[in-house]
Parts: sequence; C-alpha cells; structure tokens
Amino acid sequence: MCGIVGYNGEKKAAPILLEGLSKLEYRGYDSAGIAVRNKTGETEIVKAKGRLKVLSEKTDGGNAVEGTVGIGHTRWATHGEPSEINAHPHCSDDKNVIGVHNGIIENYQELKDKLARHGYTFYSETDTEVAIKLIDYYYKTYNQGPLYAITHAMTRFRGSYAMAVMFKDYPDQIYAARNDAPMVIGLDEGESFLASDVTPILKYTKSVYYIGNQQVAVLGKGSVKFYDLDQMEIDIEPSTVTWDANAAERGGYEHFMIKEIHEQPKAVRDTINSVVKDGKIDLSEVGIDEETAKKIHSIQIVACGSAYHVGVVGQYVIEGLARIPVRVELASEFRYRDPLLDENDLVIIVSQSGETADSLAALRLAKKKGARTLGIVNVVGSSIAREVDHVFYTLAGPEIAVATTKAYSAQLIAMYALGMQLAKYKGTLDDERYASMIEELQNLPDQMSRVLEDKERIQWFAAKYANAQDMYFIGRGIDYGISLEGSLKMKEISYVHSEAYAAGEIKHGPISLIENGTLVVGVATQKRLFEKTRSNMVEVKSRGAYLMGITNYGNYSIEDTADFVVYIPKTDEYFTTSLAIIPLQLLSYYLSCAKGLNVDKPRNLAKSVTVE
Ligand code: G6P
Repeated sequence: MCGIVGYNGEKKAAPILLEGLSKLEYRGYDSAGIAVRNKTGETEIVKAKGRLKVLSEKTDGGNAVEGTVGIGHTRWATHGEPSEINAHPHCSDDKNVIGVHNGIIENYQELKDKLARHGYTFYSETDTEVAIKLIDYYYKTYNQGPLYAITHAMTRFRGSYAMAVMFKDYPDQIYAARNDAPMVIGLDEGESFLASDVTPILKYTKSVYYIGNQQVAVLGKGSVKFYDLDQMEIDIEPSTVTWDANAAERGGYEHFMIKEIHEQPKAVRDTINSVVKDGKIDLSEVGIDEETAKKIHSIQIVACGSAYHVGVVGQYVIEGLARIPVRVELASEFRYRDPLLDENDLVIIVSQSGETADSLAALRLAKKKGARTLGIVNVVGSSIAREVDHVFYTLAGPEIAVATTKAYSAQLIAMYALGMQLAKYKGTLDDERYASMIEELQNLPDQMSRVLEDKERIQWFAAKYANAQDMYFIGRGIDYGISLEGSLKMKEISYVHSEAYAAGEIKHGPISLIENGTLVVGVATQKRLFEKTRSNMVEVKSRGAYLMGITNYGNYSIEDTADFVVYIPKTDEYFTTSLAIIPLQLLSYYLSCAKGLNVDKPRNLAKSVTVE
C-alpha cells in the first residue's frame, strides 16, 4: 500500500517527487525516500523515518538534492518495521540498480536464499531489497540490458508489484514494471511522470497511460515505450482523466476529510446525473439491459471496509425492490469460501480504489466460477474496473482522506440505481413509485446540504464526548447498515472503541457492557421499525446509557428517549443512509479533531489496501 513516483525531465526532480509523494501520502506514511541522479551520473539517496515532512525538511523541500531524473516512495510497512534502513529506495551494493516498490513479493525468502548463495548481502528486512538485487543479479549475469534483467526477474516474482527502477548505465531512463499494483504514467513536453495514482500527475497532464499486468514501461524524457514479458514492444493508448487537479487539494479546509464530507452533495449529484436521463435510469453504459437483468437469479455483493457497508445497505435495497436474493460478504472471506456461483449469478464488487487486494481476488474467483461481474468503482482504469464484465463508475473525484466519505456516498447511489432499475426490469416496481423514487433521488444532494448545515450542534456534542472510551451504534434493517459505517468511522479516525449491533441483538450480549454514561447512538429512520428500535433505546437508557438519536423530521417522540437528537429530512426509506450517515461522519470527524488526532492519516491505516 505504499506510494511510488518517478520523474524524468529537465527540471529539478526532487521537489517534483516530494510534491508527488505528498499526494500519495494517504497510501502510507511511516517512512519515505527519494533517489535522484545528478549530472555526473551519481545518484543521491535520501530516506527518513516518519511522515514525508521529515524527508522534506532533510532535503530543504528537495532543493538540496541536485538532478533531473528520480524516483520516490512513501511507505506503509509490510516486511520490516518502519525505519530508515527499511525505507525505499533500495539499491544494489554498487548503487548500479536502484528501485522503489509498492506491493509484496511473496516468494522473497526463496529469492533471498538464492541471491545469498551468489554472495549477496542484505541490510534491510524488506522484500523490495531482494527484488532489486535479483534484477541486479540478472543484469550483471546476462549482460543483456535492463529490459532483459527486469523481465527475467518478473518471471521469478510471485506477488504484486508496481516498481520503478533506475540503472546507472542508462542515465536518461526510468524502468517501470507492474503486476496487480496500480501504476499510471503521464507525459508532458520533454518530461515523463509515473505514480501510483493520477493525483501527482494531474497538474502536468490529463492524458495518461495505464500499464497492464506483467508489462514494463521505459520512460525517457517526454517519451514512453511499453513491453511485454517477451520484451516485445506493445501499444498502449493514452486515456483522458476527467478529474480536476484542484479536487486533490485541500482548498482552504483544515483537513481533506471535512472537505470531502462537504463535497458529498456534488459527488452524489454527479453520480445521479451520470445514470438518470429523462426521468429514467439508464444503465446502458454499465451494460445491464432488460434481458441481462431478467437472467439474474441471485446477487452477491463483495467488498471491504466501508464499501462492504455499502453492500450491507445494498442488500436491503436490491432485495427489497427487485426481489432478487442478495448476499453480502467481506472479500477476505469470500475469496476462501469456495462460493456457489454460476452464470446466472451477478457478483458486485464495490471499491473506491479499484485496487483492494481482497476485492480483486474475489473478483477473479467470481469470474473463474463463471458468474457475471459488476464493479462499482471510483478510480477509472483501476484493476477492478478493467477486469469486471460491467463497470458502474461513481463520480466522487479524487478522495484523499484515508477514511472514505464522498466515495461511500456515491457508491450508495450506484446501489440505489441498480436496485431500482433491476426492479423496473423485473416488474417489481410500478411506474408511480419508480417516478417518485427518481424524484427523491434527485432531491438527495440538496437534502444532504441541509444536513451539513447542522454541523455546529454535532461539533458541540463531539467536544462534550471527546473523552468517551466506548460507543455503541444500534439500528435495524438499513439503520443497522448505517450503524456499521458510523461505528467504523469512529474507530478509524477517533480511536474510540465502538461497536455496531443490530438493535434487536443487544439483549444477547452488549447490553451487559452498558454503564452509567455509556454513549449509545440509536439510528431509527425506518417507519416500520421505528418503535422497535426506540424500545431498544429505552432498554439501554434504563441501564444508564447516554443516548444520541438519529431519525427523520416528524418522529419527535424520540425526544422522550434520546438525550440528543439529530433529524434528517424525509426521503424514500431506501435512501435514508445517504442523509443519516452525514451526522455520524461529522461526529467522528469532530471527535478526532477534539482529541487532536491526525484525521486524514489515522495510525496504522492506509487508504488503498493492496496487500492481503
Ligand atoms: C481501506 C480504507 C477504507 C475503505 C477500504 C476499502 O480500509 O481505509 O476507507 O473502505 O479500504 O477500499 P476500497 O478502495 O476497496 O473501497
């Protein structure tokens, strides 16, 4: 889950590399490093443990490092603790071959033993040092140039990697290799860039190349060539990125997370507008037509983290509307379960990054089993987007904060649209309800803006409860799905122990943990379940809980039970998640701020989890 960058041009490389790494810091931030070749052919490697700013200070923002060709890395430790010695770049002992890597070389021990037998010594605990030294070994042993050495090493690597490698003897080139880890390449006049995602490149160009699996790219100054494992040159067409460069900047907000929370109405509106045309949902770009829809016997939604919680809500929405059996599962479980699937099943993979290792493995398994696959993905050109049969792109734009907000909200829209249209095709949703749901869908962005206006009350409440040790979120049905996401946000960025329970289940365990003052958030947006959830709230209150309630305007009787209430505007019951999640995002955000934590980069987490 590390981030890598590369620059080859005429400008001073180090400041460009550091700026690029700052855009990728969400991918890992326990150490960082750069390698830059100067005019005399020598390469300077500078590394630092800790946040990127330590490396930046060490190099005076990059100004202290000479040279116009370089590579850089920001690390999320997998093999070896965060330390300067384990930080990338890694190099051969003579500094002839230098590289950075994102991913995991699974058979690194076996390769390390082989290299040790050939006299290689290792200084770090990383798989990357082994990979670079293997390339060095083939480079020196066969003497057939970098492309030969890299492709030869690639046939020996097992695992995922996006690598950028420099060779002393080829001073004007950067070599890049990829398998199952993201990498994007961009060209501008006389210069070339590579990065783990488009955000470091957007400022220079919107025309980018997505290098495929088991392919190598050779970056010159303003040029790029692609090769397959047989070293045959291949053609890759550039793609145009529609993301705005400013979208990846904080733009006056204190944190990316609060900026992204405020961008939700736009992310939702853009995603709705991409599929609602003339008062109807049009899935033609997704490629799901009536005939396809009617063939679907069952649906499995597979994802990780918040994307899984979108699946939990999606299960209620799709099953409820389209009357198709839906199962939702964590990708890390699904991939080892040997699921029962055939061509009549649809597997929906939900992923912001499109690169999550477990979700990608789940997708491949589903395909192998013959199921039809659909990805709800935010990052265009990502691995999942490229490998699914159908892709529904969410239009959330670049999301930088580790904890997702606007991508989650955009994914929900995709679920609603799918549920509604499948229902329409199957005849389980009449014209009148369909039309009213479309109208409600289009009202959501404005309603979300209204909920955001209530943020000061939530900020006040968060400050009051900043010392909370434990928190419980309860709800039924869709409200349970909302509770799961609210609880995850609280853990992720506020480090509060929190649990989400189906409200009816609290009597089977968690109620024993309720003491005087324990904070419980009750979510009750579903009419049919309101009284049931309220009773569960009364049960915890009578054991001393302090209660926050979230419900729709009009359900004022909740005030008899809850100590603090947040109301959301009325919408179709299937859409309430989009509104009720906002106060919970704000609660965890303000609580994290009140505790003085690093909101955008919470400890131990990374945004894009490309390891198992
Ligand atoms: C990480 C992020 C979460 C995200 C999950 C799945 O854990 O911190 O915010 O929900 O990965 O990521 P994906 O890119 O597949 O949606």
